[in-house]
Amino acid sequence: MSQYFSKITGWGMYVPENVLTNHDLEKMMDTNDEWIVSRTGIRERRIISEGETTVSMSVEASRRALEKAGLNAEDLDLIILASSTPDYLVPPASSIIQDQLGAQCAAMTLVAGCSGFVYGLNTAAQFIQTGAYEHVLIIGAETISAGIDWEDRGTAILFGDGAGAVIISRTTQPGGLLSMKMGSDGAGWDALIVPALGTKNYPSHENIENNEHKLKMKGRPVFKFATRVMSDVAVDVVTAAGLTMDDVDVLIPHQANQRIIDLALRRLNFPAEKTIVNLDRYGNTSAASVPLAMVEALEDGRIKDNDKVVMIAFGAGLTYAAAVWQFQPMEVSPEDEAILVTNWPVDNAFQRKLQEMRTAAFRMKVQARTKASEASMAIMLPLYSFRKGLKKRGKNGKNDDPEALEDKQSD
Ligand code: UT7
Repeated sequence: MSQYFSKITGWGMYVPENVLTNHDLEKMMDTNDEWIVSRTGIRERRIISEGETTVSMSVEASRRALEKAGLNAEDLDLIILASSTPDYLVPPASSIIQDQLGAQCAAMTLVAGCSGFVYGLNTAAQFIQTGAYEHVLIIGAETISAGIDWEDRGTAILFGDGAGAVIISRTTQPGGLLSMKMGSDGAGWDALIVPALGTKNYPSHENIENNEHKLKMKGRPVFKFATRVMSDVAVDVVTAAGLTMDDVDVLIPHQANQRIIDLALRRLNFPAEKTIVNLDRYGNTSAASVPLAMVEALEDGRIKDNDKVVMIAFGAGLTYAAAVWQFQPMEVSPEDEAILVTNWPVDNAFQRKLQEMRTAAFRMKVQARTKASEASMAIMLPLYSFRKGLKKRGKNGKNDDPEALEDKQSD
């Protein structure tokens, strides 16, 4: 049997046109550009305009990713949307995206805070590597601005909206996901919370008046958690791939705070030039942050063929997720092709065909058995009931069936 690898074959992003700068925020609350830049590195962020939602941004980013991959929506086997700010609590926004793309596949929404996209990518790679699926679309998208308390300067200055999408496809070209690590430190569940948007606390008049339906954050504990996770998890995931940080070509950290990134870089002794940072322009876009950074790095050539890329994210939960990903060349040279063809045993194709025939035969057998049992039930059930009725009445003509007695008593 062939070994399958996951390969990033398509990518796309969408950010709203509307830019909210630190200077704009100065007019809205007691803050200033100098404080925001020095404490976070953020200069501006994108905020949705009327008509833009998590779904609309996801669909646009996904269309671009499909186009890049040269695929149609019907080619997708699974859509994973990572988002904490979906259009609705019910239904899952992933199904609306599926519908709008015109895909005929499985769809699910994954909630893991800012770690959601990396969680999604790692999950998708499992489906690809087992051979179960051929093309999976993973989206990280957020409309955090809708859930921001614009009077809380501790959160309002940090977040932005946007969507990034990638498609991973099944290949025999070695590479893709080399190692991963995912975790959750649930003891910190209330460090980032929207208290009244779930079933424990619905948004009542009182809750809304108290802004309990808006995001609350304990900045300091999250900062502490983030700095520990960034370096510890980077080491874990890189060593699991049999590498050191020296072998890493590009680092894509969650774009939360420049100070968190700088601290991690220092601890890891990793150069800033190899680290993708765009939080100055987009702020913290939660689950969209890693894919937005990845898409920009791919577009401007900062991620090159065969590069080993480390992604690390952390967020509400408190969750964390990391991956080492090797980017296989998009174009396969004739020499590579020859190697791949040799690696792909000729009988593999035959065996796959055989397997398909076996499963088709199995399906037909099960269907035939189901139909036969349904038909026999239709004939036998009246006979069986008649016989049971005779038995129940007994020799002396008394009906001793408890159910029948119950019916009688209730009459
Ligand atoms: O995706 C994961 C999501 N979250 C994060 O990654 C957040 C992690 N945490 C952080 O990034 C930082 O904790 C913040 C950027 C949120 C805050 O930075 P900090 O250095 O921890 O500031 P602080 O909350 O300790 O506040 C320091 C001072 C306080 O004033 P005093 O008490 O020293 O007089 C605050 O009132 O800065 C003040 N302050 C502000 N001043 C101007 C807090 N926010 C602001 C503001 N503008 N926006």
